[in-house]
Amino acid sequence: MNKEKRTPVIAGNWKMNCDRTKAKELVAQLKESISAPECGVVLCVPYTNLETVLELTKGTCLKVGAQNCHWAGSGAFTGEISASMLAEMGVEYVILGHSERRQYFGETDETVNQRLRAALDAGLKPILCVGEVLSQREQGVTQEVVCQQTKIALGGVTEEELGRIIIAYEPVWAIGTGRSAGPEDIMKAHTLAANLLEKHFGRVREVPLLYGGSVKPENAATILALDNVDGVLVGGASLQAESFTKIVTA
Ligand code: PGA
Repeated sequence: MNKEKRTPVIAGNWKMNCDRTKAKELVAQLKESISAPECGVVLCVPYTNLETVLELTKGTCLKVGAQNCHWAGSGAFTGEISASMLAEMGVEYVILGHSERRQYFGETDETVNQRLRAALDAGLKPILCVGEVLSQREQGVTQEVVCQQTKIALGGVTEEELGRIIIAYEPVWAIGTGRSAGPEDIMKAHTLAANLLEKHFGRVREVPLLYGGSVKPENAATILALDNVDGVLVGGASLQAESFTKIVTA
């Protein structure tokens, strides 16, 4: 399947930002500035904003996602939120395996796989994040890392379920640093992920591959024009309506 056939996706990851007042303001501005995009637009907001943002985006082109979910349906997991709880609210997407979860909260490839399974079972659309840290890049093992993270996370996923997954390649050294990966690095990782998917599932790729890491209005068009790049996952620049809109229209 060539690039034109996959719907591009621009996803904003608000991380732990925006209180309710700011969330309402931002969504109101985005509703004004983004009306008929040629791509899917997803806002991944903190749990506490989900209900508000779901309500405000009803009937618009803006979709809503959470930033994580637990693998169990319910139980003694203080502080966690299950996939079915998100689905019940009407949440459509969920980010899984973000490097900040892996780095600060002990997320492993195996737990990412468990969370992904639960998200799929609940009918959610996972945005799976993979990417190498700086030391791995310097050791020249980026390809191996991306390959391992993707393979383990997708363990047990069926062909039908694959159609609901989005993969975001986010080199950890490029996240929040202002230093995005160069076109060559992005193409290499994306080609690898594309080949892996085709080999693993034995057919032409439908899964959108996003790039994430210091995406800004200034570099979005260049990144989005690359082969095998079907969208972007945006952190910092998704917190301002102006910059996020510019990326969506890029
Ligand atoms: P950034 O974050 O755009 O601020 O680098 C991207 C991400 O963490 O998803």
